[in-house]
Amino acid sequence: MYKNIDFDSIALTGEAPGEEPRRQYYFIAKARRYVKEQSEKLGRPLTAAVITFGCQMNARDSEKLTGILEQAGYEMKETEEADLVIYNTCTVRDNANQRVYGRLGVLNSLKKQNPHMRIGLCGCMMQEEGALEKIKTSYRFVDLIFGTHNIFKFAELLCTMLESERMVIDIWKDTDQIVEDLPVERKYSFKSGINIMFGCNNFCSYCIVPYVRGRERSRNPGDILREIQALVADGVVEVMLLGQNVNSYGKNLEEPVSFARLLREVEKIQGLERIRFMTSHPKDLSDELIQVMKESNKICRHLHLPLQSGSNRILAAMNRRYTKEQYLALAEKIRREIPDMAITTDIIVGFPGETLEDVEETIEVVKKVQYDNAFTFIYSRRTGTPAAAMENQVPGEVIKEGFDKLLKVVQDTARERAALLQGQIQPALVEEMNGQDPSLATGRLSNNTIVHFPGTADQIGQIVDVELKECRGFYYVGRQVT
Ligand code: 5AD
Ligand code: SF4
Repeated sequence: MYKNIDFDSIALTGEAPGEEPRRQYYFIAKARRYVKEQSEKLGRPLTAAVITFGCQMNARDSEKLTGILEQAGYEMKETEEADLVIYNTCTVRDNANQRVYGRLGVLNSLKKQNPHMRIGLCGCMMQEEGALEKIKTSYRFVDLIFGTHNIFKFAELLCTMLESERMVIDIWKDTDQIVEDLPVERKYSFKSGINIMFGCNNFCSYCIVPYVRGRERSRNPGDILREIQALVADGVVEVMLLGQNVNSYGKNLEEPVSFARLLREVEKIQGLERIRFMTSHPKDLSDELIQVMKESNKICRHLHLPLQSGSNRILAAMNRRYTKEQYLALAEKIRREIPDMAITTDIIVGFPGETLEDVEETIEVVKKVQYDNAFTFIYSRRTGTPAAAMENQVPGEVIKEGFDKLLKVVQDTARERAALLQGQIQPALVEEMNGQDPSLATGRLSNNTIVHFPGTADQIGQIVDVELKECRGFYYVGRQVT
C-alpha cells in the first residue's frame, strides 16, 4: 500500500520503473523534489486546487488527483487562487462544458497575476474531440490536458508539465488497464466512494458516456474488498460502490462474479455500517440483487433507478431496452419486497421526437412509482451520439412546457413521500455542521433523506438515532434521541 511508502527515499538517478504503480511512485517522488525546491525559492508553500464538475465518479477521481498532489507536497486549497489548478470536467450535458469555458476565462486573468500558476484540465470533456480542439486553439494558457483513461498517470504527467514550457496533452482513446494502490485523499473521513467498475457498454442513444469513459471494465473483487477493509480501518463507516451500471459488474472478469455476490462479500466487512451504490440500470436489476438488499442490514434503503422516459416509443429510440410496463413491474416488485426502500430516478425531457403526450406518459409513471426524488434534465444534444443525428429535434418552447409540468408532479410526489416519515425515529449518519446555523448537525438517513438537529461537531462520522419532528418539504428538522 502507498501509505507505507517513503517517497523521499525513492532514488531518482536511474530510469523510471516500467511497471505500475511503482512508476507513478517514482514520479510522485520527482514532483515532490520539484515542489520542495520551488517553495524554498519562493519562501512559501506551493498550493493546488482540484475543482470537480459532474458526477460521483468524477468526485472520486478528484480524490485520487488530490492524493497525488498532497504526496507531491502541494498545500491544497478550495478555491482557484492557487499555483496549480486542475479542473476535472464533465460533458454529460452541454451546460457542463459551458461552465468550464466560463471559468477558464476567470483562470486566465488569475494566471496573468501569478506567473507561477499552472492550469490542468482532465475528465470527460477532454475525451471529446470538439472540446479538445477548442481548448487547444482558444485557450492557449492551459498547461496540461489529459483524459479519463490515463488518470492513473497523473504524477507522471505532472512532472512532464513542470519540466515543459509548452501545453502537455495526453489523451487515450480507451484502455483495459486498471492501476491499483495509488494515493487517494478522501474529502470525508467517514465515507467514501469506491470504483467497482469503469466505463459503459449500454450506448443509450442520447448519452456521451460510453464514448468518453470507454468500455466496461470491472475491478477484481479481491482488490475492492481490500480497499474497503483499508478504508474501514481508517475510520470509514459508509461506502458508495460506483459504476455506470453496477448491475453488469463482474460479467467480464476472468472468473465472473455478480454484483449481488460482491455485495454479500462487502456486507461481511466488520466495522462497515452502510453500503450504497450507484447506478443501477433497470434492464438488468436481478431478483438476486433484490434478495440481497432485502436481507442486508447494511445496504441503505435507497435505490437510484433511472427511468429516462415513461413512453415506450421514446424508450425504444433511447435504446434503453425496457418498456414502461417492465419498469413499473420492477418498481412494484421492489416496493413489495422492501417497503421502506426509497426510489429515485433520472428523467430526460425533450429527446428527439418526444411529444407532450409522451411527457404525459412519463408523468403517469412518476405518479405510479411515487419517486422519493427525481432529477429532471432537459435533453442536451451531444455530438457523436445517435440521438444527435436524429432529425426530429424538439423546439425549446415545447420542451419547457413538458418540463415544467413534469417538475411540478415530481416535486409534489417527493414532498408526499418525505412527509410519510413524520414522527419516526431513524438512525442518521452525521455528515457536517449546518452552514447557516452552527448549532445544528446535518445527518443522512439510510433512505438518503437529510435531517437537521441540535448537535455538535464531534458527532460528525457517527450514526445517531434521530426523531423526525418536522418535515420541511424534502428534509426534516429533528431531535437526537440516543
Ligand atoms: N441530455 C440530457 N440528460 C442526459 N443524461 C445523460 N445524457 C444526457 C443528455 N444528452 C442524464 C441521464 C442520466 C444522467 C446522469 O444524466 O438522465 O441518467
Ligand atoms: Fe460523470 Fe458522465 Fe459527467 Fe463523466 S460525463 S463526469 S461520467 S456524468
